[in-house]
Amino acid sequence: LAIEGSGFTSRTRDEVQYFDHSLFLIDEQGIIQSVLEPGDERYASEKSQAQERGIYQALAEGSYLLPGFIDLHVHAPQWAQDGTGLDEPLEVWLGKYTFPTESKFADESYAHVVYEDLVNRMLATGTTTAAYYATVDRKGSLVLAQEAERLGQRALVGKVVMDDAEANPDYYRDPSAEAAIEETERFINEVAELNEHSVQGVYPVITPRFIPSCTDEALRGLGELAERYQSYAYIQTHCSESDWEHGYAYERYGKSDTHMLREFGLFTRRSILAHSVYPNEEDMRVFVETGAIAVHCPLSNAFFAGAVAPIRRYLAAGMHVALGSDISGGYNPDLYGAIRQAVTSSRMLETGVNRDLAAGERGVAGSALTLNNAFYLATAGGGESLGLPIGRLEAGYAWDAQVVDTKFASARLPIFESNEPASDIFQKIVNLAVPENIRTVWVQGREVVRK
Ligand code: GUN
Ligand code: FE
Repeated sequence: LAIEGSGFTSRTRDEVQYFDHSLFLIDEQGIIQSVLEPGDERYASEKSQAQERGIYQALAEGSYLLPGFIDLHVHAPQWAQDGTGLDEPLEVWLGKYTFPTESKFADESYAHVVYEDLVNRMLATGTTTAAYYATVDRKGSLVLAQEAERLGQRALVGKVVMDDAEANPDYYRDPSAEAAIEETERFINEVAELNEHSVQGVYPVITPRFIPSCTDEALRGLGELAERYQSYAYIQTHCSESDWEHGYAYERYGKSDTHMLREFGLFTRRSILAHSVYPNEEDMRVFVETGAIAVHCPLSNAFFAGAVAPIRRYLAAGMHVALGSDISGGYNPDLYGAIRQAVTSSRMLETGVNRDLAAGERGVAGSALTLNNAFYLATAGGGESLGLPIGRLEAGYAWDAQVVDTKFASARLPIFESNEPASDIFQKIVNLAVPENIRTVWVQGREVVRK
């Protein structure tokens, strides 16, 4: 594959690089072999060779390349209830909306319908890699891994563990800690087998829902699985999401959930910790020492967490940070929404929202994320966090990319001048693009969306 186009990719957390009519040479494995600029010696010859071989494509004027987005926290079954229930607090919402919804996914044909729709929707809005919670039912969860694999999305998929008979409804839980561990191990092996034939990759994820829904026995057993399968399984759970959840761990153990998850062997370089709103200094050191990933879910945090995670502080401390939609705690299925909300929420944290306090006393200085920072979290930051060569349009990275057409029909972006600076075009795209603007999406060199 050889693609000629202009576009944007993160250079650092703070800087976005604009490239102008670059020629991307992509190999059979879907990896970017080289990126040639129009001034490069080989540019003309590689281009004509690719044209002769029929593998050359050029973007139209007004269309731009961006890396595919990386969404590291999605509850796939909750797509079926997306947009509802958010007037309730987390602990009520789970019992009233979420558990009844998720229990339906033991029906594999229903799971198939919802999962296919979600994966297609996410791909169509530029999300090329996602970390998913499925449900307690192993077979229903496998349907999600199969659908993502088939439709071409790079996916990390977990069968959810919630075994505590006191904490969970009888109609929706693992029958015992032992069964939860066995089913998780089986699921890991099934997904690993699926991955053997996958181009883009599908990875199993050990998924205790969160501490309040699991027994110590299950958490310990999952920690042991995490060690045994550390070469390819990831771990995901909710960490310090809300006052209620954060306080729960202190009540049960006298320690933070970060501390306890580490004790159970669940806090490693491959751990994906959704929300992570309330870690204290010591907890933050655990993140840095282990290299675990904090997933910022700013829209959901506005509803359930009751706080804004101080992402600038996390980045300054050296933590890995990525972005998540948290469908359906956050109702927006595309990461454009999460990027915008990350910026908005951080501005609220910076300046404060309580106008009854004096200016200068309201907010937390140094909290604001720039648009470039948030774009980094959705792309290169997510890739670095996972330790995978994704999230950048650079040699050595997978060709996971999206084409944004700024001139598309009813969704034209307000670009009126031919000499508009590239950085302004970038900002208009990231702030204003709607799904209709995204015309083509590739994952690992394979075209998965063409509208
Ligand atoms: N904590 C435990 N389960 C969930 C969930 O499904 N969504 C969110 N946002 N938080 C949770
Ligand atoms: Fe969540």
